[in-house]
Amino acid sequence: MGSLSKKNAYLCTMMKKITLTLALLTQCVVLLFSQVNLFPTPATAFRGRGVFYVNKHTLAEGNGDYAAQLAAGWAESINALGLPEHDAVKNRVRLNLNKELNLKKEGYTLTVSSEEVLLEASSESGLFYANEALLQLIRFYKGVLPVLRINDYPRYEWRGFMLDESRHFFGKETVKQYLDVMASLRMNVLHWHLTDEPGWRIEIKRYPKLTTVGAVGNYHDPNATAAFYTQEDIKEIVAYAAERHIMIVPEFDMPGHATAVCRAYPEVSGGGEGRWQHFTFHPCKDETYEFINNILDELVALFPSPYIHIGGDEVHYGNRSWFTDPDIQQFIKDKDLKNEVGLEHYFIRRVAAMVAAKGKTLVGWDELVDAGVSPARAVVMWWRHDRRSQLVKALEQGFRVIMTPRRPLYGDFVQYGTHKIGRFWNGYNPVEDIYRFPDPVVHLMKGCEDQIMGLQMSMWTERIADKKRLDYMVFPRLVAVAESGWTPAKAKEYSLFMQKLPLFLNYLDSKNIYYFNPFHPDARLEPAEPAKKEDVLQDG
Ligand code: ACM
Repeated sequence: MGSLSKKNAYLCTMMKKITLTLALLTQCVVLLFSQVNLFPTPATAFRGRGVFYVNKHTLAEGNGDYAAQLAAGWAESINALGLPEHDAVKNRVRLNLNKELNLKKEGYTLTVSSEEVLLEASSESGLFYANEALLQLIRFYKGVLPVLRINDYPRYEWRGFMLDESRHFFGKETVKQYLDVMASLRMNVLHWHLTDEPGWRIEIKRYPKLTTVGAVGNYHDPNATAAFYTQEDIKEIVAYAAERHIMIVPEFDMPGHATAVCRAYPEVSGGGEGRWQHFTFHPCKDETYEFINNILDELVALFPSPYIHIGGDEVHYGNRSWFTDPDIQQFIKDKDLKNEVGLEHYFIRRVAAMVAAKGKTLVGWDELVDAGVSPARAVVMWWRHDRRSQLVKALEQGFRVIMTPRRPLYGDFVQYGTHKIGRFWNGYNPVEDIYRFPDPVVHLMKGCEDQIMGLQMSMWTERIADKKRLDYMVFPRLVAVAESGWTPAKAKEYSLFMQKLPLFLNYLDSKNIYYFNPFHPDARLEPAEPAKKEDVLQDG
C-alpha cells in the first residue's frame, strides 16, 4: 500500500471513530436533556422553558365518558398527594380520548404548557397511563411541573408480575396495593400462581375440599389455618385490576405441583411416596380430566383474561410412581406414548384441547415447547435461563413467548451480595441486571422479535412468609422490571434511572412499603423468615 492510501485509510478510520463518538455523545446529551422524573422512563420526552402550577383552582375536564370519569377522580388524587399550596392560578388539565389520533396501542401524549396540561390517547388504557404519568409528575415535582412534551408507548405488550400465593398467602389488601403500584408503573399483567404443593388458594364451588383441605398449610407450616380467596374476593380483585388496566391470569399448575389438590381429592392423584406423594395428577383416568375440566369452567367464569396458565413445569420431580404403576404403564403402551415423558405431553395436549374449547389461549412454562401443542393456541413462558435453547426452539416453532428467566427475573434470588435469605445460583439478581434485560438475549430473537410478548418478574414465595419480606424482595426491583418492559432500549440509561430512583423510594415510603435501599444497603434489616415446622415440603 502506498503512503497516500495508508494516510487515507487512517483518515477514514479516524472519521468513523469521530462520527461514532459524536453519535454516542449526542445520544447522551439528548437523554440527559430529555430526562424527566417519571417511571418507567418514557419513549421520548422534551423539556421546554416555564412551569405549570398545579393548585386547587386547576380544573380537570375530559371529552366523553371515560375521559370525564378520569377527570372526576382527579381532584381527589391531587388532594391525596398533600401538595404545598401554590398561589391560585387559573389553569386546567384536559383529557382527550380520540381514536382518530391513531397513537400506538396503549400509547399517549402528555403536553405541559404554562396554562394547560393536555393528555391525549386513542385508547382508554393510553389515557389511563397518561393520567398515571401525570400523577407521578405532580408528586415528583411537588406540583410545579416543567413545561414538556412526552410521546410514550410500551416496548412490550406483556409487562407482568407473578405472585405465588400457594407457598404463602398474602391476601386481598396486599394484592390491591401491588395492583396500585403496578398501575403507576404501567404494568398490565398479574400472573397469579394460586395452586401448588403447600396450598390451593381459590374457592371452587363444585369441589369444596379444595379449600377445606387443600387450602390448609403453607410452606413453613403444614397445619396453618386454611387461607384462600372466595369467589367474591376474586371478582372484587379482578374488577379492581381491570379499573387499572391490569389483566389477571390465573395459574392452575398441572400435572405436577398438584399436591394440594390431590391431597384434597386423592381419587385424581398420580400416587407417589413421602415428599412426592400426590405431586402429580393421575394422567390416565378420565375422571382426572373431567375434574380438571370442571375446575377450568369455574376459572374461566371468574377471570375474563383471554389466557389461562396451566403450568406444566418440573413434572419429573415427582412422577416416579408413573414408572411402576401397572395401569399407567399399560396406558402408555395402549396409546403408543413411548414413555413417561410422552405421557406427560399427552396430558398437556388433552388439557390444551379443553382450554381451547373454552375459547382461551393457554400459557405454560417452557416445558410446553416439547409437548406437541399448536403454537397458534399457546404461549410459552421461558424460565430456564440456563436453557436458552428452549427460548430459541419456542421462537423457531412459532410460539409467542413471555420472558421470565430465573436470572435475572425471579424475585426469590437475593438482590444484594450480603443478603442471606433467598437464592444464589452463580450469582443473584440485582436491580442493574434486571434493568439491562433483555440485552443479553436480544441476539437470540433476531427475526422473531414480533413473537416476544414481553416479560415479567416471577415472585416465588417459599422463603417469604410475610408482607414485609415480600416488599423487601419485590422493591425496588419491580421498578426496573417495569422499565425493561415499557421503555425502548434507546431511551434506557441505567445511571440516569438510578439518579431518579430515590423519588420512587419516597413514594414507597408514602405507601408504607418496605424495600431494599440500594443506596444504603446496610440501613435496613433484611427481614427474617420463620423457622420451618417439621414435615414440610423441601424445595423442588
Ligand atoms: C418454575 O420455576 N418451576 C417455573
